Amino acid sequence: MIIPTLRCDKNLFEKDLNGKNYIVTGANSGVGLETTRQLVKQGAHVVMACRRVDSAKEVAKSFTSFKGTVSFEQLDLSDLESVKLFTKRVRSKLNKIDGLVNNAGMVTSGQIPKRTKQGFEMMFGVNHLGHFLLTESLLDIINNTEGSRIVMLSSIGHAGSNKKRPNIHFEDLNYENRNFNRTDAYCESKLASLLYAKELAERVKDQDSTVVSVHPGWAKSNLAGKGFTAFVQNVLLTPVAPLLTIMSNEDAAQTSLHCLLDDDVPNHSGEYFSQNSLLYSDKACRRGGWPMKSPNPNAHNMKIALKLTEVSKEMVGLK
Ligand SMILES: NC(=O)c1ccc[n+]([C@@H]2O[C@H](COP(=O)([O-])OP(=O)(O)OC[C@H]3O[C@@H](n4cnc5c(N)ncnc54)[C@H](OP(=O)(O)O)[C@@H]3O)[C@@H](O)[C@H]2O)c1
Repeated sequence: MIIPTLRCDKNLFEKDLNGKNYIVTGANSGVGLETTRQLVKQGAHVVMACRRVDSAKEVAKSFTSFKGTVSFEQLDLSDLESVKLFTKRVRSKLNKIDGLVNNAGMVTSGQIPKRTKQGFEMMFGVNHLGHFLLTESLLDIINNTEGSRIVMLSSIGHAGSNKKRPNIHFEDLNYENRNFNRTDAYCESKLASLLYAKELAERVKDQDSTVVSVHPGWAKSNLAGKGFTAFVQNVLLTPVAPLLTIMSNEDAAQTSLHCLLDDDVPNHSGEYFSQNSLLYSDKACRRGGWPMKSPNPNAHNMKIALKLTEVSKEMVGLK
């Protein structure tokens, strides 16, 4: 069955974003680049928060005819000192933040856990902890901005399968005693992104801020790297790509854009948004409409979400 890709309502892309400030992490590539492109087209200012600023400057050359503007800020989410320097610079430059898109993400290669600068397992460190510190450090500005939104890029991977539902392993977040499996570690980091969105939404519910998590779909981005996985995704599977819902980065950016721009999204703060995914086994989750209900019970557990925030605060030095 071919599952149609849903596109944002056209009127969302006609909104004038002049005067609005967005921060997009990983804005130089894949889904983040296409999210940035659309926001700049509509007149926004986007801070492209990138590990490789040169790459961001290169891709931004294609924005020159757009109404909006961009600026470039170096950010390496695998180093909390880099996150602190980034937020310090942003705080000195922006007095309002209309949208923060915690989009950057990565999958490590190999069978041995890689470590961030501060010694955390790399995917948990980059995908969750780096964004956690970034968000908490800018939260006052975000909360003081009318109608602000925070979008966390999670993944369908957080849901797992009927046989194996990812959870947060508080007893060994850094894979010091468990056998390392990079798919499990990635899925756990993406469950953390979803749970953080849920907890933060509850914490800021009396503010004018909305927090959601997103699965962008299966995008033909650089996430698959340059090796065999990329060859399978980008070459071998091309003839059946629509059947597998493999989509362009522009298509995959639609859910993030919907979450940033649609007027109904604030009614669903804390929820998980997705267009579709082949991996949803549950019919109710399979098709159509945002938001969707995660089939993973751990994704609905507020106790885990609250504990994750407390533990993350300690890990990044906010406690
Ligand atoms: N593609 C999919 O099918 C899919 C499915 C589900 C969820 N997602 C999620 O969607 C988000 C966007 O990914 P994508 O598919 O667009 O992949 P992508 O093309 O590989 O983009 C990932 C971005 O994250 C940046 N990044 C990686 N490590 C970083 C670090 N330590 N510090 C700062 N930035 C870092 C990358 O920077 P460099 O360019 O310097 O590497 C790149 O800009 C990710 O969170 C991913 O997990 C993707």
